[in-house]
Amino acid sequence: GAPVEVNIRKAEPGQLIRVKWRGKPVWVVRRTPEMLEGLSKVEDRLRDPKSEQPQQPEYAQNQHRSIKEEFFVAVGICTHLGCSPSYLENGMGDHVDGVDSGFFCPCHGSKFDIAGRVFESVPAPLNLAVPPHYFIDDNTILVG
Ligand code: FES
Repeated sequence: GAPVEVNIRKAEPGQLIRVKWRGKPVWVVRRTPEMLEGLSKVEDRLRDPKSEQPQQPEYAQNQHRSIKEEFFVAVGICTHLGCSPSYLENGMGDHVDGVDSGFFCPCHGSKFDIAGRVFESVPAPLNLAVPPHYFIDDNTILVG
């Protein structure tokens, strides 16, 4: 499949942009400072907080799981059985273990923080996948 360009110039803080890449949903979230602060609050409840799992780009192997902290890029498919998780913006976090934002999979209740890191208490085995991508310039991400 061809790489996909995502224009992030108009992305508002907290906004999630959806694109398709190789038939899969890919998300780009412009994270707010509050979202980034929340990342350190949940680490003791995550399966793989430093995201050391293989099969992902090197730049996803850290707490924020991205090249630039502000922009999180992920494949929007639950790592349990492939359902599509919902995006929980700030303030909807009751579903995400008291964290203010993240992703919630309605199929079997898997929960991920705003870096796609999976909570220990749920069926999904792995953090959400980060697809290969890079910044062409400040306004454009190329996925693929
Ligand atoms: Fe997401 Fe099972 S497919 S929790």
